[in-house]
Amino acid sequence: MAGRSFVFCLMLVVSLSAQNVAPRGITDEQEAWDFIWDYNTKAERVYYNKIMTEWNYETDLTQENSQKLVEASLAEARSDEEVAQNASRFDWQNFNNATLKRLFGKITVLGTAAQQDRTKLKELNNILSEMSNIYSTGKVCEYDHQSSCMALRPDLEDCLASSRDYDRLRFCWEGWRDAVGRQLKDKYSRFVELSNDAVSQDAQNWADTGAYWRSWYETADFQEQLENLYNQLQPLYNNLHAYVRKKLREQYGQDKISVTGPIPAHLLGNMWSQSWVNIYSLVEPYPNKTSLDVTAKMKADYAFQIKSCSIMTTIMSEYRVKVCANINMEDLITIHHEMGHIEYYLQYKHQPVPFRGGANPGFHEAVGDLLALSVSTPRHLQSIGLLDNVGGGNESDINFLMSMALEKIAFLPFGYLMDQWRWAVFNGSTTPETYNQEWWKLRTRYQGIVPPIPRNNAKDFDPGCKYHIPYNTPYIRYFVSFIIQFQFHKALCDTSGHTGPLHKCDIS
Ligand SMILES: *[C@@H]1O[C@H](CO)[C@@H](O)[C@H](O)[C@H]1NC(C)=O
Ligand SMILES: *[C@@H]1O[C@H](CO)[C@@H](O)[C@H](O)[C@H]1NC(C)=O
Ligand SMILES: *[C@@H]1O[C@H](CO)[C@@H](O)[C@H](O)[C@H]1NC(C)=O
Ligand SMILES: *[C@@H]1O[C@H](CO)[C@@H](O)[C@H](O)[C@H]1NC(C)=O
Ligand SMILES: *[C@@H]1O[C@H](CO)[C@@H](O)[C@H](O)[C@H]1NC(C)=O
Repeated sequence: MAGRSFVFCLMLVVSLSAQNVAPRGITDEQEAWDFIWDYNTKAERVYYNKIMTEWNYETDLTQENSQKLVEASLAEARSDEEVAQNASRFDWQNFNNATLKRLFGKITVLGTAAQQDRTKLKELNNILSEMSNIYSTGKVCEYDHQSSCMALRPDLEDCLASSRDYDRLRFCWEGWRDAVGRQLKDKYSRFVELSNDAVSQDAQNWADTGAYWRSWYETADFQEQLENLYNQLQPLYNNLHAYVRKKLREQYGQDKISVTGPIPAHLLGNMWSQSWVNIYSLVEPYPNKTSLDVTAKMKADYAFQIKSCSIMTTIMSEYRVKVCANINMEDLITIHHEMGHIEYYLQYKHQPVPFRGGANPGFHEAVGDLLALSVSTPRHLQSIGLLDNVGGGNESDINFLMSMALEKIAFLPFGYLMDQWRWAVFNGSTTPETYNQEWWKLRTRYQGIVPPIPRNNAKDFDPGCKYHIPYNTPYIRYFVSFIIQFQFHKALCDTSGHTGPLHKCDIS
């Protein structure tokens, strides 16, 4: 009896432990594929609806459209959540087919949609909508003319790009920050709490929103790799910075800019000092060689057609671009960049929904810029009639390379620091009390710039004055993109049989 009962007990134990590893879910991979294709049809509808309401809101900022967008976002979140739940019935971690496994990995991650508390999820979406509304409607009015006000696009950006008056530039720079920053600060800190709370409920239990965002790169040492890349490129940035500072001292006076210190942030031709192409004329190495800034030529050719801000809308069946563009070279490049995104969409449109995205978020931006790299070569600008003749010689080449440096090298520290700031906010090491001073610490350390007027760190919220903060769009993708786009460009130039230096290659 004792023996038998022992055997019985042992069996019981075995069967219990088998049950412990047992909730394996559905293992049939054919059934899993059926699930994926069924999901695909439903998801296409849900996402289409969400993106249409987003489009309607962005092209017509009404309260009603804002409400519809909030509702569609909720519906999307609900559907994603249901799909994730249904998908978790499968034993997908043990699937043999790697593609199938990856598809399930993607649809079971919910991010902020993992929020169980409907009220909090709604609050999160409302805050995002309020923040984008503040940003997109911010205006700066003239001191002596309160009825004469400037929007960011095109007026304030134009001011930063083309004014060469130190005080006027400062007015536009400061005005934009006064108009939106302070209103956003409390909303942003609440947003951070809500976002972290939401992603902590995801099946993967993210430590904070930054950890979740970084997971998209599927690289454990992502941050070390970035630091390593930045360190390799920093000497190039430092040289550019020193050269530009010298030119700006000649332009604005020795008393305005220190010989060895940081540059006042409003003098670099851009609201965020992130691209310096608009001050090309101040720093052109060989002024009497062919000008490569085609802005003047574009304005002369097209100004009669487009008076002020024009909304460019391109609709190719279901692919759309909305850009509020100015007539200048920077926006010419931007348009090509946006069209690059569309080319990429078209390339993967046959993929199942979870794969309709860049290989990582940096890829999408890189494909956009890849087209722009060819477009900005003198050879291409000549072929579309924006440059009359490309003077040969090294001096013209150096002018061209300088214009590229003002766009690509000048951007690197900004591209790197945006999410460093945000990751520190999300992980709690930067608190609302230190939002602004941590921002300027990074801006000075990496970009070598300072605010032109003292900041009130208790009230000002300068990071919020950059689109991607209130619109909650991750940013490190642009830094990644600025590295890999040159790798893509080189690969395509090699493939197309190009010989000679890479900066002369036009793949079009
Ligand atoms: C999830 O499964 C339930 C029950 O089978 C089904 O009714 C529902 O439509 C599924 N949801 C989605 C989004 O596939
Ligand atoms: C996964 O399954 C699909 C569909 O049956 C098949 O086309 C693909 O080759 C498989 N992939 C792998 C890596 O086995
Ligand atoms: C450029 O040309 C102008 C007149 O055409 C001349 O005064 C100036 O010195 C030249 N600059 C350089 C750097 O050659
Ligand atoms: C361009 O620079 C190279 C290398 O410094 C030199 O060999 C060449 O003669 C220069 N060409 C012209 C046209 O100045
Ligand atoms: C928070 O993030 C910042 C920026 O990535 C990092 O420097 C810091 O070490 C992190 N702190 C903690 C406690 O994880």
